[in-house]
Amino acid sequence: MSPQSLQIRRVAGALGAEILGVDLSQDQSDETIAAIRSAFVEHQVIFFRDQSLSPERQVAFGRRFGPLNIHPYVAGMAAHPEVMEIIKEPEDKLNFGGGWHSDMSFLQHPSIGSILYAVETPTFGGDTLFASQAAAFEALTPGLQATLERLNAVHSAGREYSAKGHSAQKRKSMSVVEAEGAVGEFVHPVVKVHPETGRKALYVNPAFTMRFDGWSKKESRPLLDFLFEHCRYEGFTCRFPWRPGSVAMWDNRSVWHFALNDYPGQRRHMRRVTVDETPAAARVAAE
Ligand code: SIN
Repeated sequence: MSPQSLQIRRVAGALGAEILGVDLSQDQSDETIAAIRSAFVEHQVIFFRDQSLSPERQVAFGRRFGPLNIHPYVAGMAAHPEVMEIIKEPEDKLNFGGGWHSDMSFLQHPSIGSILYAVETPTFGGDTLFASQAAAFEALTPGLQATLERLNAVHSAGREYSAKGHSAQKRKSMSVVEAEGAVGEFVHPVVKVHPETGRKALYVNPAFTMRFDGWSKKESRPLLDFLFEHCRYEGFTCRFPWRPGSVAMWDNRSVWHFALNDYPGQRRHMRRVTVDETPAAARVAAE
């Protein structure tokens, strides 16, 4: 597959593009991977339709972008621990990822991106929303931008994966381990400079950001609440309606996402691999 045959169609003003002309079940040339990577960092989330990806092929594709994460709190597939099955059964009330967040910011070296493949989709609903945190940063006044650029924030999985947390709620379909007592806190800049594009994005996370570094929770709350509200403004978003065989690949450094839970009584089955930031890349990003 030569990159010349790739077609890129933007889906919304702030972020998102559909990539046509690539069969992800096949081995890709370095040139094609470079073209996909370039579309991924430029558009922040890219979409593919009508793919047929076995767990092995999803792992192979994901590894072209970096090492794959093994989630510390959600069990992966027995034969493929890097592949997380995100399943909502008809009798489940809650879904996984049903609130604005980016993946894995609770790690010391957070993820650069997630690749989600739809195995089974409901007959209606179950779309995923995406929000550009680069657009969110750029819409702020220079004064607040400058203030935020001087701040760091503390991230932790403790709340989300506690017994009461949304992700750890008991559900029939997924095995989620409670994080109580086993979690660390990691500090990340509130404004992340994208290591590949240089574009700045807000990097606060409603699921995992606890407070600003050096501030108390109470002091942090008003500014975090303002940012969480601002960051999900409709003009920064796009929406992806899934079909079996659809793939979305989003940049966790600059994108929030939200899995809608609007398909009661129906099954939805996805498989996700998550690409880790390497410590070497993290050092470059921090310089
Ligand atoms: C997630 O990774 O948060 C799940 C997204 C989805 O199921 O649409």
